[in-house]
Amino acid sequence: MKKVLIATAAVLSMSVIAVPAFAEAKKGEKIDAKAKFDQHCVACHPKGGNIINPKKGLGKKDLAANGIKTEKDIVAKMRNPGPGMTKFDAKAVPDAEANAIAKYILATYK
Ligand code: HEC
Repeated sequence: MKKVLIATAAVLSMSVIAVPAFAEAKKGEKIDAKAKFDQHCVACHPKGGNIINPKKGLGKKDLAANGIKTEKDIVAKMRNPGPGMTKFDAKAVPDAEANAIAKYILATYK
């Protein structure tokens, strides 16, 4: 019984590691911005909202009201966020990924 459990745990942990690696390989260099957004941001920004500060959602109107207009502005927010938001430095989210997420936000949340 114990052996079976250990084997199951081993298989499970392998699949957890293998699945994202497979997804990366399949898409080559292309970044899946939605997946990255879902991974890093969606917990606090579901559907482009903001569960902590509802006035600071990711819709164009909210962004504009807070002086955020371009992809660069969104990346700047990730690198240097306001109160309550996780900081995402270039180690957590490399520039290419950060830019892809920013583009995704501008294209998705109007
Ligand atoms: C732990 C919760 C949390 C996570 C995770 C999070 N945010 Fe935020 N976000 C916030 C909060 C809180 C604010 C408001 C901060 C402030 O007052 O400036 C905010 C503000 C923003 C704003 C400015 C919105 C506006 O209208 O002014 C942007 C853009 C943004 N987040 C992008 C992101 C992106 C992109 C990610 C993922 C890489 C992310 N956030 C992850 C909590 C979070």
